[in-house]
Amino acid sequence: MKNTRWYFLMSCLFLILFSCSEKSGKASYDVVPKIQNISYNEGVGFELNSKTPIIFSKKNDNIQQVASFLADYIADCTGLNLTLTYSENIQNGVFLNIDKQSDNFEAYDIAVDKEKITISGASEAGLFYGIQALRKFLPIDSKLTSVKFPAVTISDFPRFPYRGMHLDLSRHMFSTDSIKIYIDMLAMHNINRFHWHLTDDQGWRVEIKKYPELIEIGSKREQTVIGKNSGEYDGQPYGGYYTQEEIKDIVQYAQDRFITIIPEVDLPGHMLAALTTYPNLGCTGGPYKVAQSWGVFDDVLCAGNEEIYPFLEGVFDEIIELFPSEYIHIGGDECPKVRWKACPKCQAKIKELNLKTDKEHTAEERLQSYVIQRMERYINSKGRKIIGWDEILEGGIAPNATILSWRGTEGGITAARQGHDAIMVPTSYLYFDYYQTEDLKGEKLGIGGYVPVEKVYHYDPVPEVLTTEEQKHIIGTQANLWAEYIKDFSHAQYMTLPRMAALSEVQWTLPEQKDYQDFLLRLANYTKLYDLYEYNYATHVFNIKDKYEVDEAN
Ligand code: ACM
Ligand code: ZN
Repeated sequence: MKNTRWYFLMSCLFLILFSCSEKSGKASYDVVPKIQNISYNEGVGFELNSKTPIIFSKKNDNIQQVASFLADYIADCTGLNLTLTYSENIQNGVFLNIDKQSDNFEAYDIAVDKEKITISGASEAGLFYGIQALRKFLPIDSKLTSVKFPAVTISDFPRFPYRGMHLDLSRHMFSTDSIKIYIDMLAMHNINRFHWHLTDDQGWRVEIKKYPELIEIGSKREQTVIGKNSGEYDGQPYGGYYTQEEIKDIVQYAQDRFITIIPEVDLPGHMLAALTTYPNLGCTGGPYKVAQSWGVFDDVLCAGNEEIYPFLEGVFDEIIELFPSEYIHIGGDECPKVRWKACPKCQAKIKELNLKTDKEHTAEERLQSYVIQRMERYINSKGRKIIGWDEILEGGIAPNATILSWRGTEGGITAARQGHDAIMVPTSYLYFDYYQTEDLKGEKLGIGGYVPVEKVYHYDPVPEVLTTEEQKHIIGTQANLWAEYIKDFSHAQYMTLPRMAALSEVQWTLPEQKDYQDFLLRLANYTKLYDLYEYNYATHVFNIKDKYEVDEAN
């Protein structure tokens, strides 16, 4: 009996001691993307624990939202639950302000001393990037009772205003929850534009209330080719779309994270899903089929048919309502001209417009330019601007268009020289459907090519051949993820991570600050966040590469 009581008392003591034991972690400022300016100060820094309040200076819903993201991130990483307050009489804590003076609205400062951590954004967006940095400083350990932050002064800002990432949800689509996770991934990498490819030959994925048949017919394909256009098909119908309610919810989710969604309705090519729905919009009148294989198809919208214009305007009316983005993407890529060459309506239109083939452009290229310019006028009349793939330069660029230069950098260079803004997304550096390793044994399917993390990292979007004035038209860069071979979201994560980390440093950090070996060390720590959120990522970059030679003579 005595023994039992003694054992019981000892167990209680052990439990009390154990539950009171302190476990402190240390913050590290070696994050991705690399911070532009950081100076380490004398003296002890700040110790954050569960009693530390997060104080926001104004009673402003957006700051409160940012503050609650910070509380969530701290809880995710450390298990510490901090309270939010806007009381004015507090001396110690994490202070969130919007009082940094800067021309760059996404800039922020962080100051850490014994009393406090202060994050000062030049705007709410700047504050948001400050808290993205702070979350990355944290050690990841749910048993921590405190985190020590060394004393520092940080001043950070992005190199480019346009920092994008694309996702093709036509070829394969993912759940709305997965799209939100994708948006979380972008936010973590300081990316502020999500280019959402909504329509293509293989499926129309956005509900347009004026044209309900687009989702009844155009969102469905009868089956899908197996592998890379093998000629064999899976026999499985594939389809789906996003309702306008779902889209509004996702747009808000992105906006809360300072990400603008740029919607793309690709025209006049890549339109088989719409042509299957409305065969009268094509040159031959069909019948057409939502594509079951991959590639570029000859059947495109009939540019000579006046009916396509009110159709497109009806579609863009609803797209513009759904997406508050300044930019609306109207595609323009990979539009073969074979049907237009043989089509009486297209040829009559060419005659009517007096379009001529000359040394620079064919009459059909000029017809494409007519379609794009007509859509630009419509979209401009609604107060928005167009973005198009670099093919919209052929036949003459629309007056206010921004170019996404994908077939190399020439399109971006030409656009900048003509005084147009351009965003660089060359296949050879920024196509994340390309493989990230040369050793394809056991590798998840990619379209081909080879774009390793190191290559992404070394990309500089600003061509040296441009003058300083012209270089100002390169407003940023993005990477693309085309989804022909990406059937599930876990595969999409694998293709994008960790290349998105290298991209984020291209987009955010000044070139003189970049160092690949240093990036790799920071990346190793950064991937702990991927682990925490169970993101699937490729690990080739951490493989040890060795080389040996056999000295046969000896
Ligand atoms: C593209 O990759 N077709 C823009
Ligand atoms: Zn035609």
